[in-house]
Amino acid sequence: MSDHLVNAYQSLPVSFTHGDGCYLWDSEGKQYLDALSGISVTSLGHNYPALTSAIQEQAATLLHTSNLYSITWQQKLADLLCASADMDRVFFANSGAEANEAAIKLARLYGHQKNIDNPQIVVMQHAFHGRTMATLSATGSRKVQAGFEPLVSGFVRAPYNDIPSIEAIAENSRNVVAILVEPVQGEAGIVIPDPGYLSALRGICDSNNWLLMLDEIQSGMARSGKMFACQHEAVVPDVMTLAKALGNGVPIGACMTRGSAAEVFKPGNHGSTFGGNPFACRAAFTVLESMLENKIAENAEQRGQQLFCALQQGLANNQQVAEVRHLGLLVAVEMKIPCQELVMQALQQGLLINVTAESVIRLLPPLILSEAQGAEIASKLLACINQFTE
Ligand SMILES: Cc1ncc(COP(=O)(O)O)c(C=O)c1O
Repeated sequence: MSDHLVNAYQSLPVSFTHGDGCYLWDSEGKQYLDALSGISVTSLGHNYPALTSAIQEQAATLLHTSNLYSITWQQKLADLLCASADMDRVFFANSGAEANEAAIKLARLYGHQKNIDNPQIVVMQHAFHGRTMATLSATGSRKVQAGFEPLVSGFVRAPYNDIPSIEAIAENSRNVVAILVEPVQGEAGIVIPDPGYLSALRGICDSNNWLLMLDEIQSGMARSGKMFACQHEAVVPDVMTLAKALGNGVPIGACMTRGSAAEVFKPGNHGSTFGGNPFACRAAFTVLESMLENKIAENAEQRGQQLFCALQQGLANNQQVAEVRHLGLLVAVEMKIPCQELVMQALQQGLLINVTAESVIRLLPPLILSEAQGAEIASKLLACINQFTE
């Protein structure tokens, strides 16, 4: 371990040398089944052939020019993304936090264009939107915010999955311009709202001329069993942010816009040196094209159902399990007790998992998962949980 790294992460004592499909290998040659995908990033698995060759070819052709010039792969990616999400225009960034920064700036500008001098954005309790100053201020976790005050102002907090509280804000507040919300709260522990939640938010936004801004950074790109989680309710937002699986490991973020939200940014309002570079855009184009051609969302739906059933059945008599839940391959086992040590136990068994919100086992396996690999995840995890709670 180098002393020269900033002490920002509590990394596990394992280092991977290479990966293929749903498997990774460490420096000792031990094989692991990846049930986390680098936290919802490598959704096409490791070393996905079409992506590997597209990246190799692009690296040998052109890495970067600048947004001072038009970038063909950026345009091709924007066209395909907009067609898939029913959106109009995209701004490309390099990460999820940056995509959300773009959304927050856009909402403020939209407010000012409507002569609202102090625009407010409704955000949710337990939300996670990133670690930059604006996005950590939008995040609903004191742990993420503590020590970084003064926070960025302009956010109004509401409970998640609670429409009456949003209606109350609509009645009492004149300065709200947008709602920023995750269709499924990932970091909070795969919290899935009631059916109808997003449609109700859409309705409130329409009645009040607010923008509905969906953070699909974790839930998007086929993970939920649809290309975008909002498509489960046929809701189309005004702004949608993406990152994580969009580049399958090549850093890229996107802030997609529709209708009047698509006309807010004008030249000079926002920008990025690296955002939308030919390399990242070609990678993301290949990812999205591969996901569409190979019906990856359908596989996510089927494997999610398989994992959910296997885990629910296997844990039915375990008194320490509060709930098993899922939307596609966003899968959670909520325990009644803190269970961080399960991560290390699973690692020893050659399985990569994550625990979030202290007591929620989070599974985000590659969406190319086979039935046999789904069964392998379930049996290894069941053994770990049952041993842990014995
Ligand atoms: C819903 C959501 N929004 C935003 C982010 C931040 O993305 P990034 O780490 O790429 O800045 C994350 C990362 O976990 C996320 O899950």
